[in-house]
Amino acid sequence: MGPGPSDVAPSVLMAMSKPIVGHLDPVFVKIMDETKTMLREVFQTKNDMTFPISGTGSAGMEFCFVNLIEPGDTVVIGVNGVFGTRMCDVAGRCGANVVKVEAPWGQIIEPKQIADALKTCKPKLVAIVHAETSTGALTPVEEISKLVHAAGALFVLDTVTSLGGCPVKLDAWQVDAVYSGTQKCLSCPPGMSPVSLSPRAMEVATKRKTKVQSWYLDVNLLASYWGQDRVYHHTAPISMAYGLHEALRLVLEEGLENRFRRHEQNHKALKAGLHAMKMEIASQAGHQLWQLNTVTVPAGIDEAAVRRRLLNEFSIEIGAGLGPLKGKIWRVGLMGETSKKENIHTFLRAFGKILNESGYAVNVEVAIAAAKV
Ligand SMILES: Cc1ncc(COP(=O)(O)O)c(C=O)c1O
Repeated sequence: MGPGPSDVAPSVLMAMSKPIVGHLDPVFVKIMDETKTMLREVFQTKNDMTFPISGTGSAGMEFCFVNLIEPGDTVVIGVNGVFGTRMCDVAGRCGANVVKVEAPWGQIIEPKQIADALKTCKPKLVAIVHAETSTGALTPVEEISKLVHAAGALFVLDTVTSLGGCPVKLDAWQVDAVYSGTQKCLSCPPGMSPVSLSPRAMEVATKRKTKVQSWYLDVNLLASYWGQDRVYHHTAPISMAYGLHEALRLVLEEGLENRFRRHEQNHKALKAGLHAMKMEIASQAGHQLWQLNTVTVPAGIDEAAVRRRLLNEFSIEIGAGLGPLKGKIWRVGLMGETSKKENIHTFLRAFGKILNESGYAVNVEVAIAAAKV
């Protein structure tokens, strides 16, 4: 129940243990085609250039920036946690002039902040982290995307934690470049990064003046492998691709709307249980992630000691706060397969016991009853 990786369904683990075929074998090519089709459905896009990068979410982040940025380009990046900070680092390494739009950790990036930044510079792209895993805040992006396009820029979105757990609508929101991860709400082990580029982003990537500095992540080369040509580029991680194929099949079998509803209901249940324990969700009200719940550590409680006991005595993993939130919050993940009523009840029982024994009196039965509503 940490911030990812989440639990993995047995059928995904079984798929990953199947015999290895060649990465240009017709069986594997069929898996690649089906994976692309399913990813389009999960991302809610018609983008042809939709496939998984061989690498984790950070590789997807690099993929978007190395292909779209040329040295000297200006980019605007929303920074309200660890992953916006990482985007700035990556974009800076690509030679971009980075304009940061900052919000306190736990808060969202407001459209007005982006509008103000767009008055002072003319960026090639604007990038936002949809679901900030380090803080538990979900930034709504529809209005931001409109502002970005009105300014003639591309809109880049990090959906590592949002994809498969809450709505992500690439075409409706006009997202030009997106990356995600397999290990959060898709409930597959870490190892691949689903990405998608709009035709507008592809045009920018193919008409660059300079070569993409990363050979491995150059979309112009990857397109020949993941496209119809099937030209050898790198040896795809076959077992990971089997796993992702099955994980996506499970997402679509459940249905996107049902899956989102499950994540929302379980978030509400956990929150009700925590409230009954006099605990607060730390991220901005009205913009709290369903799949990653940040809980404020009450005064006098040793954050790390509680986490250690949960792990050692109950085999429950939750996450710590990062950066300015270190020691101040816990991060409780309810992602994909992990988002289950039984997990919430088991967690509340263990958490309540530890809190009581730490001198913070809570009524565990009342909390569990509240979480059952
Ligand atoms: C929002 C977000 N972006 C990017 C990443 C980086 O992904 P990875 O750790 O898979 O490289 C993470 C990882 O937790 C994340 O939560």
